[in-house]
Amino acid sequence: MEIRGAEAVLTEETYEGKPAIRKNRIKKAYRLPKLDQTIRGERTLAEERLLVRARRAGVRVPTVWTRDKTSLILEKLPGTRVKELLETTTRQRAVAAAIGRAVGKLHRAGIIHGDLTTSNMIWDKDIAFIDFGLGKMSRSAESQATDLYVLKEALNAAHSAHAASLWEAIVHEYEKEYPDAARVLKQFAIIERRRRYRG
Ligand SMILES: Nc1ncnc2c1ncn2[C@@H]1O[C@H](COP(=O)(O)OP(=O)(O)O)[C@@H](O)[C@H]1O
Ligand SMILES: [Mg+2]
Repeated sequence: MEIRGAEAVLTEETYEGKPAIRKNRIKKAYRLPKLDQTIRGERTLAEERLLVRARRAGVRVPTVWTRDKTSLILEKLPGTRVKELLETTTRQRAVAAAIGRAVGKLHRAGIIHGDLTTSNMIWDKDIAFIDFGLGKMSRSAESQATDLYVLKEALNAAHSAHAASLWEAIVHEYEKEYPDAARVLKQFAIIERRRRYRG
């Protein structure tokens, strides 16, 4: 398997006999070589740090087994991508509830995932989040609300038949998990209105 994204190439390999994924940040020809190396190194390090913090916050994420300057060797998580799972399972609301809890835990710990789509979630009896490549640390309501907005848009785009009931279950659990949820949801409503009027 090889997956080429905009920022990284993912390849399957083994690490000490265990199934692993190498996530290597790609060279960008438009950047000066030395600067390119620095940027790829910094982003690799930033993603590793966010994975460690997310784990500490109680969210299931792949373990970083080792790294070099521009790639992470990640534990390959078993299970089904939530993108595919939501098309087949009859337990949509349970999956959505787990998503809401996990996002609440991240936000409570000051972590913004940055790309909450169902391609970046894996289900194996519980939810795991991957791909913190666009993540950052922030406790601002605007950042947290934007994180939720990306998630809602992703559900509308990829799972339109269930999007409304998935969203309801997500918000319900998010509010239970995260004491500051009301403030974020208020900001979320402002963002939605802003985007609607801008079209
Ligand atoms: N640790 C992992 N375990 C299992 N599958 C993974 C793992 N990391 C990535 N993948 C698979 O590779 C795909 C792309 O990885 P991701 O980290 O999201 O990179 P990108 O930045 O290109 O989106 C994911 O959607 C998932 O299917
Ligand atoms: Mg991804």
